[in-house]
Order: sequence, then structure tokens, then C-alpha cells
Amino acid sequence: MSSQPILRIEDLRTYFHSRVKQAFVRSVDGVDLEVAQGETLGVVGESGSGKSVTMLSAMGLVSAQPGIVTGRVVFDDGTPRELLEGLGRHVALERRDGRIMGVEKDERGWRAQAERNLTGVRGRRIAMIFQNPKAAMNPFETIGRQIAETVRLHTGVKTAHEARERAIHWLGEVRIDSPRLRYDNHPHGLSGGMCQRAMIAMALAAEPRLLIADEPTTGLDATIQARIVDLLAELRERLGMTMVLISHDIGVIVRLSDRVAVMYGGRVMESGPAAEVLTEGGGGHPYTQALLASIPQERNLREKGRLPAIEGEVLDTINVPRGCRFRERCQRIHDSVRARCEEHEPELAEVSPGRRVRCWLYQA
Ligand SMILES: Nc1ncnc2c1ncn2[C@@H]1O[C@H](COP(=O)(O)OP(=O)(O)OP(=O)(O)O)[C@@H](O)[C@H]1O
Ligand code: SF4
Ligand SMILES: [Mg+2]
Repeated sequence: MSSQPILRIEDLRTYFHSRVKQAFVRSVDGVDLEVAQGETLGVVGESGSGKSVTMLSAMGLVSAQPGIVTGRVVFDDGTPRELLEGLGRHVALERRDGRIMGVEKDERGWRAQAERNLTGVRGRRIAMIFQNPKAAMNPFETIGRQIAETVRLHTGVKTAHEARERAIHWLGEVRIDSPRLRYDNHPHGLSGGMCQRAMIAMALAAEPRLLIADEPTTGLDATIQARIVDLLAELRERLGMTMVLISHDIGVIVRLSDRVAVMYGGRVMESGPAAEVLTEGGGGHPYTQALLASIPQERNLREKGRLPAIEGEVLDTINVPRGCRFRERCQRIHDSVRARCEEHEPELAEVSPGRRVRCWLYQA
């Protein structure tokens, strides 16, 4: 990668304890990701593959239940910050035969440490938008005042008048009609699409260096979805925004991403230039290819393309099998690699410049 990454995630692991099953669910199981300044990284994968938990863990937003978050997350927009630093001090792991059997956690210490690590970063230098805007906004406050508050908290603007003007500016930027009038609307007075725009305005109002958008169009109807995608594309061009975009929708990912990471069972199986990785028949990981093949109208990939499930059982993330975790569903496993597929999990290895694949078929 040419420029220094603004966000680097190394060997991130998030395990939740299931009281019912008396075992750990390995939701994120060794994720490595990098986001370069100015690029959009798309993260794609079936439901439950760990896309959201990856970003929530990196941002210190995984709830403090008996669970563990380990690995390294570095945010560097000039001053590097380690976002998971020191969390391990508040957790004692009980291991047996190399497996984690139990966790004791000092919740308050852990929380306080996570908050210290993220002060001045989350909400300010990194903003997040989620799928459900109405839940993320305060129902009792007008959208304008909520945006103005973000401006006052996170930018140099301090006077009420100036903050109001900036908020109106951002409402205009996300193409909300009559921003001056809309300023006084409460979230419930807006349609789903408008509310999503208001939330994007609120995220941008902090003037973040990095925007994380988790399924920003899911749940909206098709026309509005297309408009929000157009809006993100336009903002990306105009503001040179750096973005992590999580989506089920390959069409959205292809349209907006420079690079893409494909996740399966809590791990990145493949990463590289979006146009290359998301081309059917373009080689690459058997999982990515199965996903692409499962889209009915591959020629319409750009317009249409939600991910249907592919054949086979979803991975059991409690008892992750030995070897390649995609093995049970892999259609391309054959005798020359079978023994390795069964015994060892492949590395995410570089197969061509900027493209990495976790599969024995690509490793001599
Ligand atoms: N707080 C939690 N406690 C226990 N398990 C959790 C918790 N949060 C998430 N999980 C589990 O972790 C796995 C990964 O979840 P995640 O939300 O990251 O998936 P996803 O890839 O974002 O899926 P989707 O596309 O449906 O949003 C899922 O199996 C989920 O059930
Ligand atoms: S490593 Fe083997 S089982 Fe896994 S995806 Fe590649 S060929 Fe299939
Ligand atoms: Mg999700």
C-alpha cells in the first residue's frame, strides 16, 4: 500500500461467552485489515460473518459482557493511537490445552480503559453511521440542534449562531430539501431516507478523518437506497472522505469501494481491489466465487445484487473446525490440496500486488 494506513487492524479477536452453551462464540477470529487515507474499503460477507462486530470491537463499542477483545488497532491520522491498548490488563483468561475455558474481567476497569483510548477519536476523528437512524438519534431533540451540538463538541466552531449555520450547511450537503426549515424537525417527522441523510449529516458535521458506515442503506426501499448510495459516492468525491463501508449488498460495495475485504466465519478470506475481487470467474477465493455465483443476474451486479446464502451449513463459530474453515462448503477442494485443507488453516497470503487470498489453491 502506498500511503500510511489511517486504520490498521491486526489479529483482532472478539469472543463472546455463551452461558447456555458454556462456551465461547468466536465472532471475530483473527481479522487483519488496513484502510489507506482517502480510500473506501468495502467489507462484505454473509450474515453473521463478523463484519459489524469487527468494527464495533475496534471502536470500543462491544458491550462489556463476559467477552474478550484482543489484537491491535492503530488509528493514525498523524498522531498514532492504539485503540485497544491496555485492555488485556483487565482480563484474566483461563486456558486449558490452548483453548480459552473461562474469563474473569474487571468490567469497570476495562470500560474506563476503552474510554480513555477512544477519547477524542470516536465521534470526532472517526464517525460511525448505522442501519437504524431513528434509534441512533435523540427523538426529543430537533435534527438541526443535534447536528449543531456535534459541530460545537467536535470542531472549532463554538458560538451558537455559527454552529446553527454549519448544521444547516451539512443538511444541504446531504441534499435535504429546505435545510433551514428541516432544522426544526424532530426525527419522527422525517421519512426513513431523510432520517438516514440527517444521520450522515450528523456524522460528517464532526469533520471526521474516517467514516464507518455499517449497512447504511439496508431497510430502506430501493429508490431511496439508490439515492443514499449516490449521495455517499458524491460526498466521497467531493470531500475526499476515507470510508469503511459494510454491506451485504455487492452492488453497493462495487459502486463505492476501492478495495474490498471478504469475511467468512470471523476471518478475512480475501482482500484486494474491489473490481478485481468481485469479478465472477476472476479467480480468487472459492467463497467469494460462490457468493458471486449465487447472485442470479451477475450481469446486473452494478445495479442489483444482494447476497443470498450459499449452499451448506453456516460455520459453527463455537467449534471452529481444524484446517480451512470454509472446507465443509468448498466446491473447489480437490486431491492435490485436500490434506492441507483438512489439517491447516491457510494464511491470508499475497497472490498478486495488493491482492491476498486465504486458500491453499493459491499457495505453493
Ligand atoms: N453481544 C453478542 N453476544 C454474543 N454473540 C454476538 C454478540 N454480538 C454478535 N454476536 C454474534 O457474532 C456473530 C457476528 O455478528 P455480526 O453482527 O458481526 O455479523 P455481521 O457480519 O455484521 O452480520 P449481518 O450482515 O447480519 O449484519 C454472529 O454470529 C452474532 O450472533
Ligand atoms: S483452502 Fe481448501 S477448503 Fe479452503 S477454500 Fe481453499 S480449496 Fe477450499
Ligand atoms: Mg452487521
